Amino acid sequence: MKGKKIVIGVTGGIAAYKAAELVRLLVKAGAHVRVAMTLNATRFVSPLTFETLSGSKVIWSMFDREGTSVDHITWGQDDVDLIIIAPATGNIIAKMCHGIGDDFLSTMIMAATAPVLICPSMNSQMYINPAVQGNIRLLRERGVLVMEPGKGELACHTEGPGRLPEPEDIVEYASMVISEHDLSGRSILVTAGPTLEPIDPVRYITNRSTGKMGYALARAAKKRGASVTLVSGPVGLKSPLGVEECQVKTAEEMMKTVMEKSSSCDIIIKAAAVSDYRPSEVAPDKIKKGSDTLTLELVRNPDILAELGRRKKEHPCILVGFAAETKDLLANAREKLKSKNLDMIVLNDVSRSDAGFETDTNIVRMIFSDGRVEDSLLMTKDEVADLILDRVKTIWEANFDSGS
Ligand code: PMT
Repeated sequence: MKGKKIVIGVTGGIAAYKAAELVRLLVKAGAHVRVAMTLNATRFVSPLTFETLSGSKVIWSMFDREGTSVDHITWGQDDVDLIIIAPATGNIIAKMCHGIGDDFLSTMIMAATAPVLICPSMNSQMYINPAVQGNIRLLRERGVLVMEPGKGELACHTEGPGRLPEPEDIVEYASMVISEHDLSGRSILVTAGPTLEPIDPVRYITNRSTGKMGYALARAAKKRGASVTLVSGPVGLKSPLGVEECQVKTAEEMMKTVMEKSSSCDIIIKAAAVSDYRPSEVAPDKIKKGSDTLTLELVRNPDILAELGRRKKEHPCILVGFAAETKDLLANAREKLKSKNLDMIVLNDVSRSDAGFETDTNIVRMIFSDGRVEDSLLMTKDEVADLILDRVKTIWEANFDSGS
């Protein structure tokens, strides 16, 4: 979103208050945001709120305003990357459909050359009304992007479709639209999170992985146009938009799902922290307190990545592993790269407090099969994900795209 120019159109629905958070998130992500409102929208939220959040003058009246006399033409043109109408009422949708420009926002949309994304939000009966549905269908056919509303309790105390999607989801969708789709045509499988190995019905062995690194990779790959499958252990994260998500618990379940899903993938990135061992038996009932010590027998779990490395001959692909280490970092990572037949391994020093498990930031060392080593800066996991994908793309091009 850094440096992108986005115009937000706010129309008169109760969800207009959520548009304030949308503007805040876009500005935080580095976008330049301008806001146009309908007169009715100003009854729900003051233009001053949007002016303060965006740092730019808000336009809500065609004639009674500052700025130039051609703002309604230039706002949707110039070098604007995206126009987002959120919330989009049935009224603005109908006006867009039938070419009505009777205020600043509708006129600006009529003159727009930038892509337009609408986020319909209204009472469910209004939303399912055939006229509204017909208008939305027509707009889609004309190339307008439409984000499906969420279902749930609405402000009018009814249940059903019509909720404005959460602002973070709109930002994620917008960033998918705006980003360069340099991974389009690639199918990528990402694993994330910990595995969970049961001891008895109430206890298990697991590790500190939150899934943040793997989810960042899946989100970034989707944003860049890839078709993405995410195989995840139990985590508390929101599913990335547009990604096929498979939830698993144990290493054996992860192995089965990865093997099923990976045969058609071009690129496999294993960011999951898989338990190397599991209890040899799962007690059918809760183990009772008894003697002072209790010995658990553990057996080796299958090494999923090593198995993928062995299958590379039958299923040629780019294989990327992660290494979570606390000592002899480079030597251990190199050993894993070689023994598991990887193209690249991403080394995490998990003894750092600002990297590896649980954090929102990461600093990694990327080691390639030709011996090269590259260090990243300390960045957000989203930025690290993009950096890893840049390198993966280069490896893909060198191995499979030599003609292009
Ligand atoms: O989830 P976060 O909180 O964001 O933390 C991110 C992370 C630290 C978990 C992640 O970035 C990371 O380093 N993941 C790898 C952790 C790990 O299990 O490393 P390892 O060195 O034990 O395993 C090496 C590689 O083999 C990994 O790609 C792992 O997925 C894979 N493996 C390991 C064991 C096993 N039985 N099967 C495997 O496929």
